[in-house]
Amino acid sequence: MIAYKKRKDADMVLKNINVSQFRNYSNLDLTLKNGINIIYGDNAQGKTNLLESIYVLALTKSHRSFIDNSLIKAGEKSAKIKGTVIENNVPFQLEIVINSKNKKIKIDQNEIKRVSDYINKMNIIIFYPEDLELIKSSPGIRRRFLNLELSQIDGQYLNLYGEFSKILKMRNDYLKKINKGLPIDMGYFEILNDYFIEKAVEIYQRRAHYINLINERCGKIFSELSGLSGLHLQYKTTIPIENQSSLFLQEQLREKLNKMKEAEIRLGVTFCGPHRDDFEFYIDSQNIKFFGSQGQQRMAILALKLSEIDIFKEETKKSPILLLDDVFSELDDTKKNNLLGYIKQDIQTIITTTDLKNIDETILKHAKLIQIQNGQVIDIKEEE
Ligand SMILES: Nc1ncnc2c1ncn2[C@@H]1O[C@H](COP(=O)(O)OP(=O)(O)OP(=O)(O)O)[C@@H](O)[C@H]1O
Ligand SMILES: [Mg+2]
Repeated sequence: MIAYKKRKDADMVLKNINVSQFRNYSNLDLTLKNGINIIYGDNAQGKTNLLESIYVLALTKSHRSFIDNSLIKAGEKSAKIKGTVIENNVPFQLEIVINSKNKKIKIDQNEIKRVSDYINKMNIIIFYPEDLELIKSSPGIRRRFLNLELSQIDGQYLNLYGEFSKILKMRNDYLKKINKGLPIDMGYFEILNDYFIEKAVEIYQRRAHYINLINERCGKIFSELSGLSGLHLQYKTTIPIENQSSLFLQEQLREKLNKMKEAEIRLGVTFCGPHRDDFEFYIDSQNIKFFGSQGQQRMAILALKLSEIDIFKEETKKSPILLLDDVFSELDDTKKNNLLGYIKQDIQTIITTTDLKNIDETILKHAKLIQIQNGQVIDIKEEE
């Protein structure tokens, strides 16, 4: 059969979502389109809540609240989100019910016991205003980002990181015992140290590889969005990680740890390793944390997210759904339209914004426009 479509449909599409008693929604049933969906409305009407419901449907928890109870509509007992996803033309249904005590998840009406069997079904990449913290905030946030992103594309990463964290804790416990003069088995400490070094270097290398993948893409995307060249990430580690062999890196880390040993024992903590990693955003030689404008910082994060999509697609052969919350604030009209123009049609995108002013007519014509007021859809426009 010959396909006459000019544009390829997205491989993964959230076709329909049904939200009940979630945040400020009583009941909402919404059909979404393949390309760009724009959810607009005044402040506090439920735009972010709607995106959040999609995020929760995909990942079983919220990106902005640790407390599940806050997701349930005030005065109600449980919230329910259902969605029909189409992946490569095959539809399936996801469902999550959140009670004050627990959550139930279902795929095609069958209850799923293990969250890990559920959360890889619908893939999401989200941008939300708090993502700017990635530039502004402390290194822990950026390490968490690396861990999260790497676990999505690298099947062994999560286990590797889990093992590393366990060994790190044991190593620190040993250092504390040595400091207190407690009897310890030094031979065992050496084994622990070897193991720590081995795992640390493996994590360094995987993170360095991921940052390289980002760097191969983000400069070009940033320049398409902003007209500026030179955006890149710099990976900051306690030992320099370039293309050296694992053995060479292990020896370097060992040397560094040896130098630090006395101080480590005194304080009972391990000073060197991927648990101290960081990365920074630069435009050429300028760190944008200190030099970048708000808009530039926002576009840098967007370039990072759009790079992630590219990497995710290449590594997993799946295309995620892109959620953009309030992404237009601080962007001038040209940049808004650059962004919308960049978002490829082969990815389903759901964007929230307070107004449609100054958005390119052709983009508006092709997008589905959904107006929200007080937890209800009050207007929908979509070309036939
Ligand atoms: N559990 C809940 N029950 C009822 N209402 C809730 C609940 N949680 C949040 N809300 C309400 O949802 C509204 C906020 O919705 P949301 O954050 O989606 O706004 P928004 O449309 O994204 O606004 P903005 O443009 O300011 O970002 C607030 O009025 C808030 O009181
Ligand atoms: Mg909002």
